[in-house]
Amino acid sequence: MKLAARAGRIVPSPTLAMAATAKAMAARGIDVVDFSSGEPDFDTPEPVKAAAEAAIRAGFTKYTPSSGIDELRQTIIDKLQAEQGLRYEKSQVVVSCGAKHSLYNLAEALLEAGDEVIIPVPYWVSYADQILLNDATPVFLPTREEDGYAIDAHELERLITTRTKAIIVNSPGNPTGATYDRATLERLAELALRRDLLLISDEIYEKILYDGATHTSIASLGPEVAARTVVINGVSKAYAMTGWRIGYAAGPKDLLTAMANIQSQSTSNPCSISQKAAVVALREGGVFIEKMVTEFDRRRRVMVARLNAMPGVRCRMPTGAFYAFPNMSGLLGRQSPSGTIATPTDLANYLLQAFKVAVVPGEPFGSTQHIRLSYATSMETIVRGMDRLDAAFKQLT
Ligand SMILES: Cc1ncc(COP(=O)(O)O)c(C=O)c1O
Repeated sequence: MKLAARAGRIVPSPTLAMAATAKAMAARGIDVVDFSSGEPDFDTPEPVKAAAEAAIRAGFTKYTPSSGIDELRQTIIDKLQAEQGLRYEKSQVVVSCGAKHSLYNLAEALLEAGDEVIIPVPYWVSYADQILLNDATPVFLPTREEDGYAIDAHELERLITTRTKAIIVNSPGNPTGATYDRATLERLAELALRRDLLLISDEIYEKILYDGATHTSIASLGPEVAARTVVINGVSKAYAMTGWRIGYAAGPKDLLTAMANIQSQSTSNPCSISQKAAVVALREGGVFIEKMVTEFDRRRRVMVARLNAMPGVRCRMPTGAFYAFPNMSGLLGRQSPSGTIATPTDLANYLLQAFKVAVVPGEPFGSTQHIRLSYATSMETIVRGMDRLDAAFKQLT
C-alpha cells in the first residue's frame, strides 16, 4: 500500500520509545533505572481521583461539548485571569486530549505547505514532527548552553522570512530545564508584533520552578501580545495526570475557532471523566504542587551535583521542569568494551545495555552533545542510577 508522504516524514516519539523500552525491560524482571520518563512519579492527588470517581458514579460518561465542558473552560479562564491577568471568552479556550493534542490542532489550523515555524534548539521532540506532519518546515534557532539557552533576538530575526508564521516559546523548557527572563520575553513579543508572527507559548511546566521563581506568560505582556499568542498548557505535569489526557489552548478567537472545528471533526471531546477531574486539579491542586516541587528540588540538587562530580560531565543547574541535561562532550570519542562512543545515542545505548540505565540521547532534541535525565523519580532511584553512571563512565577509555 502506498502511504501518504507525510507519514514517512516523521519518526515515533523517541522519548516515548525509550520509556517503553525501559518499561519492557523492567517487565522482564531486569533491574532498570529509568531516567527517560517525562512524567511525575507522584500519584494523582486524591481529591482529583475522587472527582473522577464521582463523575463515573453520576453517569458523567457520555459525549461532552467537543471543546470541553463549560465548567472546565470557565475554570481555565479564571486561572489565566487570576495568575496572569489574561482575559478570554469561552470561544477562545479549547480543551483537548493533552497539550500535545492542543499543539497538533494548532499546527493543523495554522500551517500550510511552505510555511515556516521557528523553534529554539534544544527543543521538545514533537514540535518539529508536528510541523512536518502539516507540510510546513521547522526552522531551528541555535542557542548556547553558556548563555543558559537564552534566545538572541537578533539571531532570531535573521531567520524570519516571508513564510515565517510563528515562533515556539517553551519556558520552562524541555529538555533544558531553562527559563526565559522577562527581558527575553519582551524582546520576543516586540519582534512578534513588528514582524507579524504568532507566539506559541507552551507553558506545560509553568508550575515546576525552583529558587522562588514565578512564571510569566508572554501573553501577559499586553493585549496586543495576547492577541498574537496561543497559550498551551494542561494538567499532565503540574498535577501528575499524564494518563488523564487533558490539555488546553487559549488565544485569538479565529484561530481557536478553527482548532475547535478541527477537533470536532477528529477526536471530539476529551474524556468526560478526566475533564471533571481537571476542574478539581486546577481549583484545588496548589498544595499538591508545592509538595511535589519541593521534592523535585531536592532531587535536582542531588542529581546535578552527582553528575558534575563525574569526570567528563558538565551539567547546568536547571531552573524549571524536571530534567537534567548534562553535556557529555567530554566523554564522546572514548572507547567502551563494545566499541566507540561517538554520539549521545551511542552513550545512551551503552548505558542501557551494559548498565541498565535508561536516558534519552540529545539528538532528537537537536543536540549532539547532551543526554536528558528526568529526576521525576525517587531519590533512591537517583542515587542508584548515579552510582551506575559513575561506574559506566569509569569503564570508558
Ligand atoms: C514541552 C512539552 N510540551 C507538551 C507536552 C505534552 O504534554 P501532554 O501530556 O499534556 O500532552 C510535553 C510532554 O512531555 C512537553 O514536554
